[in-house]
Amino acid sequence: MKKAELIVDKDFQVGQVDERIFGSFIEQMGRAVYNGIYQPESPFADEEGFRRDVLDLVRGLRVPVVRYPGGNFVSGFRWEDSVGEKSLRPARTDLAWKRIETNEFGLNEFVSWARKADTEIMMSVNLGTRGPEDAKNLLEYCNFPGGTYYSDLRKKHGYPRSHDIKLWCMGNEMDGPWQMGHKTAQEYGRVMQETARLMKQLDPSIETVACGSSNLAMKTFGSWEETVLDIGYDEMDYLSLHQYYENMSGDTADFLASTVGMDEFISSVVSICDCVKAKKRRKKKIYLSFDEWNVWYHSKMNKQKPEKWVKAPHQVEDIYNFEDALLVGSMLITLLRHADRIKIACLAQLVNVIAPIMTSDSGAWRQTIYYPYQLTSRYGRGTALQTIVKAPVYESKTYGYASYLDAVAILGEGKERLSIFAVNKSLDEDLELSCDLRQFVNCRLAEHLILTNDDMKAENTESEPDKVVPGKADTLKFESGILSGVLRKHSWNLIRLEETEPERYQSDGRQIH
Ligand code: AHR
Repeated sequence: MKKAELIVDKDFQVGQVDERIFGSFIEQMGRAVYNGIYQPESPFADEEGFRRDVLDLVRGLRVPVVRYPGGNFVSGFRWEDSVGEKSLRPARTDLAWKRIETNEFGLNEFVSWARKADTEIMMSVNLGTRGPEDAKNLLEYCNFPGGTYYSDLRKKHGYPRSHDIKLWCMGNEMDGPWQMGHKTAQEYGRVMQETARLMKQLDPSIETVACGSSNLAMKTFGSWEETVLDIGYDEMDYLSLHQYYENMSGDTADFLASTVGMDEFISSVVSICDCVKAKKRRKKKIYLSFDEWNVWYHSKMNKQKPEKWVKAPHQVEDIYNFEDALLVGSMLITLLRHADRIKIACLAQLVNVIAPIMTSDSGAWRQTIYYPYQLTSRYGRGTALQTIVKAPVYESKTYGYASYLDAVAILGEGKERLSIFAVNKSLDEDLELSCDLRQFVNCRLAEHLILTNDDMKAENTESEPDKVVPGKADTLKFESGILSGVLRKHSWNLIRLEETEPERYQSDGRQIH
């Protein structure tokens, strides 16, 4: 059996994990909003038309922040259409996704939904067909306490208190030729800078995210980032990254190696940010917002053709399988390993559209990718530790050498002392794991959960929602501070150490059990 070792020291830290790394994304497209989070005619709807079953599944993920309303949609979004009396809201064409946006669900409904989902909002502004003036007005509508045209309009619409939205995306994928109003780096840099400047004058408590490249394959990748940073460094707080991975060729080993590419992508963007920082002699660091990431290809491969110019078409509805869940687990590990620079990340998206949650008129269910996301969000908060992985490697077609073992350890607070997330990417061999954890000798192995399946293509569907679910494993032991045992082939694992209760005694010396 192949051997692997993890080296972990609680004092060698990457950094505190910003919980916003477990964010997600709802775009006004497909069935994400209509028939997803909102369906007033559904038996599952609450008094505001929000699907209760979906809200329960979203809460189960503990999503700290949700990006809204796009995505490509935002580049044609007229936010004023989406507020006020519903019967007066105009229906519009959405050129991004060739659908009709009725505006029945808009900004204020999303704010109400986000409160019920226990999440914050990451709001994007339209820098495609619009610019600084409309973005400033939107901010005034959302955050200004009152006594001005837009803040009083919000009050008139039934929202007396400020929405207090702290995180603002300056447009979406503005380098992409598919984007409404797409721009050169120079053009975008200037409009982003001006928009962020005006918005911060109005509300200095906000943070701004500037668009990086739409993906790593963009010809302008690198120079786009450099130009945008060069122009808007002082006005921006985060630079965005977007990347989706696919297994079009059916080479699963290569697919699972995608995180090698993701890791290099993140390191490259960090380097560009720091290069501009050095050139400008700034103290401020630019942090990263990986605000679109996921697996996305099933709907492309099936040539899913959404109906055009309707309200809620079935659009980009990828049905995820077990190997997708392995990669999503591995991508979360990659994000955590960069916790010092990645402060925000959004699994794109949340419901129905390339999403961990699916709905039909008769219910909602968890896709395979729901589980690594849920468990990492639950147990991945704390301090990311520098986790040295000593494991055999394999050669992948696209990404070069990839380790069979991908892992990160998170130092927790309170009783939950250490969580290790580990993926064995080998398709045919278990790995013999060892890890010296004598610093945690006062802990016990509280849990080892495993997500695995004999069928790499197994899916969860409405009729069979539990084909791929995590289960308890008993292949590891923790004795005298040494964790050892077996990580099953093609498996995602969560290994948790918890502090053992200190022994307690009564005044007469007898032990309390
Ligand atoms: O998430 C789906 C789409 O992917 C988004 O609208 C866009 O930003 C990206 O290209």
